[in-house]
Amino acid sequence: MSKTPSISASPAALLLARSAASLGATSEMEALAQQVRSTGLVGRVAFAFAEDGVPSLREALRRLADKGVDEVLLLPLVLPMEPAFRLWVARSVQRWRAGAPALRWPQLRLAPGLAETSAAKLALREMLSEAAAAPPLAERALLGFEASLVPAQHHRVLVCSGPGCNSAGAGATWGQLQALRERLDLPTRGRGMVACTTSCLGPCSLAPVVQVWPDGQLYGGVDEAGVGRIVQEHLLEGRVVQALAYAPNGRKQRLRAARPALDPQPEPRS
Ligand code: FES
Repeated sequence: MSKTPSISASPAALLLARSAASLGATSEMEALAQQVRSTGLVGRVAFAFAEDGVPSLREALRRLADKGVDEVLLLPLVLPMEPAFRLWVARSVQRWRAGAPALRWPQLRLAPGLAETSAAKLALREMLSEAAAAPPLAERALLGFEASLVPAQHHRVLVCSGPGCNSAGAGATWGQLQALRERLDLPTRGRGMVACTTSCLGPCSLAPVVQVWPDGQLYGGVDEAGVGRIVQEHLLEGRVVQALAYAPNGRKQRLRAARPALDPQPEPRS
C-alpha cells in the first residue's frame, strides 16, 4: 500500500556533484551535506551524482518526493558549470516528470554555479594560502606509473555512466557486473574480461548503455538482469544478446517497447 506523503514545512537542499569514483567521494558529499544541515536553513539535506555515482539525481529526487518534500533547492557542486549542465538538469527533470505524472514531484530551484558566488574569491584565496604552506609533492609519488602490464583479456566491457545512463540506473548495472566479475572470476575465465565505466557513449535514449569490445556490440536498456545475460551469453558463450542489441542504422533509435522479457533468467553460472 503506498503511503500518502506529508507536506514538508520547509524546502530540502540537494547537493549535486558530477561523479564519484570511490567511497571517498561519497564521504566528502556527506560531510558537505552536514555543513548545509548545520546552517539550519533547510529541513532536509541530500546529495546526488549526475554521472558515475549513487544515488543518481533522479533517485535522489524520487526519494525526496516520496518523503513529501515539495520544494528542492538544487546546489550544483560542479566546476566549471557549463550552460549545457544546467540544460541537462532542466530537460532531465522535465522528462522524468512526464514519465511519472502520478508522482508529486517537488518544485526545483537551481542555484548558480560555485564560480558565480561571492564566496568563490574567498575560497580561492584560502586555497592559495594553503597551497603555499603545503609541502612539495613527493617526487616518488609522481613516478608511480613507470611501467604497466598491458591487459591480456579479450573482452572490454564499457558501462556508460554519463548523466542519462546514471539516471536510468547504470549504477546498479555496474554494481551487478562487479559482483559477477568477482563471483565468476571474469578476468581470467574464458577469454577474459576487463570492464570500466565511461562518460556518455552517445545513444542516451537507449540508457543504460553497455558496449562490449572488441566487437563493439552496443546494448541498450541494460538493467541488472540484462548485464547478467551479457555476461553469460556474450562473454562466456560468444553469442550476441539480440534482445538488448542495437546496431547503427543511420536513424535515431529508441528502446524497443516490446522487447522480449528478460526475467526470469538464470543467473550466470559459476
Ligand atoms: S549518457 Fe549513456 S549513452 Fe549518453
